[in-house]
Amino acid sequence: MSQRFSLHFSHLPLVQRVLYTCTLCVLGLGYTFAMIYIFASHHGRDGNQMLTVQDIVIAYSGSKTGTKLESALKGPMSGMLPADENLKIISWVREGASEKAYESEVKAIFDNRCITCHNNRNPHLPSLEDYAGVMHTAEEDRGVDMFTLVRVSHIHLFGLTFIFFIVAGIFIHAYLRHEWLKITIIVIPFISIIFDVASWYITKIFEPFAWVVIGSGTLMGICFGLQFFISLYQMWFYKLPDDVQMRFYCSVVEE
Ligand code: HEC
Repeated sequence: MSQRFSLHFSHLPLVQRVLYTCTLCVLGLGYTFAMIYIFASHHGRDGNQMLTVQDIVIAYSGSKTGTKLESALKGPMSGMLPADENLKIISWVREGASEKAYESEVKAIFDNRCITCHNNRNPHLPSLEDYAGVMHTAEEDRGVDMFTLVRVSHIHLFGLTFIFFIVAGIFIHAYLRHEWLKITIIVIPFISIIFDVASWYITKIFEPFAWVVIGSGTLMGICFGLQFFISLYQMWFYKLPDDVQMRFYCSVVEE
């Protein structure tokens, strides 16, 4: 019986391997920036500067103890103002966020540090130009809203499918002694994408699913890394074992 093989990288023309290499390099760079973005947008929400499970819980289901404003000031917005001003806003929130204290103590900070981005002209960010706008972010933090989740879901489902289709389309030319292992490395990211997106919604109501967000993201990253490095290595540095080379030629001759 003839077994079917994917062509190995070493059987592909130079131009195809150059194209694959360029594609992988740019996608690898993109993946790196995606990791940096995840860290920058989620770390520190719980007060700890590392990225923790609690950060993920707060991002999706909200913080039971703080407000959105506070989570942002401890996390992604902490670099926008000096620490003493940051503390001033947080104590203002904790002391009841009265309008009087807003005018006298913190409005100037918002005006100086925040409204270049958070103004009435930018529909994508909460406006911090006036008391009402600020209070909107100073209410109880319920995490990412549904509309944003739906928007990010469709971007992730489409985007990651493209990425893994392209990377796996290259990786099928790698040689692994066990075909099932190759198939597993190709299939896991697709399953992970679905688990990842589904668990954002579930984390909103059931916090332990933050572990599934982290687990599926990690699996995706591991599989991306494996496909990336094995492909690049085998494309340029690897010589197929002789017995595999023989089997490949026999299968071509049989056809
Ligand atoms: C350089 C532009 C910029 C400045 C200046 C800025 N922000 Fe932001 N802010 C953003 C962006 C972009 C986001 C969305 C980031 C994200 O979702 O990861 C954001 C998100 C937020 C959020 C969360 C909004 C939400 O709906 O979850 C809060 C609260 C916030 N900022 C408060 C502030 C405060 C307070 C300041 C001033 C100390 C400030 N920001 C300064 C750009 C800015």
